[in-house]
Amino acid sequence: MSESAYWQNIAGRAKAEGRPFFSLAPMEAVTNAIFRRVVARAAAPDVFFTEFTNAISVTHPKAKFTVQGRLYVAPEEAHMPVAQLWGHEPEAFSRAAEAVKNLGYEAIDLNMGCPDSTVIKNHGGSDLIRNFDTAAAVIAAAKTAGLPVSVKTRLGYSRLDEWHDWLTFLLQQDIPLLTIHLRTKKEMSRVPAHFELIDDILKLRDEVAPETLIQLNGDIENYQQGVQIAQEHPGVDGIMIGRGIFTSPFAFEKEPKEHDIKELLGLLNYQLDLYDDFEKRFDTSRFPSLKRFFKIYVRNQRNAASLRNAMMEAHTTDEVRKLLAESEFTK
Ligand SMILES: Cc1cc2nc3c(=O)[nH]c(=O)nc-3n(C[C@H](O)[C@H](O)[C@H](O)COP(=O)(O)O)c2cc1C
Repeated sequence: MSESAYWQNIAGRAKAEGRPFFSLAPMEAVTNAIFRRVVARAAAPDVFFTEFTNAISVTHPKAKFTVQGRLYVAPEEAHMPVAQLWGHEPEAFSRAAEAVKNLGYEAIDLNMGCPDSTVIKNHGGSDLIRNFDTAAAVIAAAKTAGLPVSVKTRLGYSRLDEWHDWLTFLLQQDIPLLTIHLRTKKEMSRVPAHFELIDDILKLRDEVAPETLIQLNGDIENYQQGVQIAQEHPGVDGIMIGRGIFTSPFAFEKEPKEHDIKELLGLLNYQLDLYDDFEKRFDTSRFPSLKRFFKIYVRNQRNAASLRNAMMEAHTTDEVRKLLAESEFTK
C-alpha cells in the first residue's frame, strides 16, 4: 500500500457513507490496549491511536518493558492502532519507525502539540512549533521506514496568529494527514477550541497541499457533533474525539441510544477483566491508573457518588467487583 493510501482508504470508506472518519484521540494512560477494546465494544471509531511514546525509548534496551506495554496491541483488537511517537532527534525517529513497523504497525503519527512542561524541556511535543527545522527533520526521519507519517499539532505555540505559517510549513512536508487541535500550546485547554478558523485552514490546505487530509480536534464531544461540524465546513476529512469518551463511552455511536447502568457496569467489568489480564501479562501493577475511568461508568445515577467514592478507596479489581456486585445497581 502506498503511504498515502492508508489514510485515503479510511477517509474514502467514511466518505462513501457521507460522513467524516472518526478517531479516538491519543491519550496518555488512557488509550492503551485495555481501554481501546472497551471503546471498541461500546462503539468503535474508524481509527485508534496509541498513547504517545518517546521515540528514543522505543529501541532503548532499558525502556523496552515500558514501551512494550505502551505499544502493546492485543490480538483481539480488530485494527492496528496508529503508533504515536514524540521526541526531537531524527535518528531516534528512524530507529523507532523501523521498530514499530516490525511490531506490525501500519501508520505513525508524530506528536507536535503536547504542552507538558517535561516534554517541552526535552524539546518534544509543542516545542517543535518553535523549531521548524527540527520538525522537518523529524518528519523526514520517521518516513524512512516507509510507513505513512501523519502529524498532530496545535495552532501555534504562544500566539494564535502563528497558525498560518506553522500549518503552511507542515502542509509542505508531504504528509497524508494533519490533525489539528484547535488551540495554541499557551491556551492549554482553557479557552474554547477555535472553530472560527476551520474554513481558513481548509482553504490553506486546498492551496498548499490538496492531497493532505485534515482532521479536526478539540471540544468535539461525540459522533453527532462531528458530523454536524463536517457538514458545516465541507472539506473536513476527519474528526478526532478525546475527552468526549469520558462523558460517554458511547461517544462514537452513530444512532444515539439510552444506555442503562447495567450496560455501563458491564463495560466496567470488561475493563477490569482486561486490566487483570494485562497485569499478569506484563507483571505490572498500576491499579490506581484505573481509577480515572470509574466516573465514566458511575456518574449520573441516583446514589452514584457514594458507590464511586467507595470504588476510589479500593485497592484491587476484586474489591471493585465486590462493590459493584453489592450495589443497588446490580440487583
Ligand atoms: C488525559 C489526556 C492525555 C493526553 N495524551 C495525549 C497524547 O499522548 N498524545 C497527544 O497527541 N495528545 C494527548 N492528549 C490531547 C488529546 O489527544 C486531545 O488533543 C485533547 O484532549 C483535545 O481534544 P478533546 O477536546 O476532544 O479532548 C491528551 C489529553 C488528555 C485529556
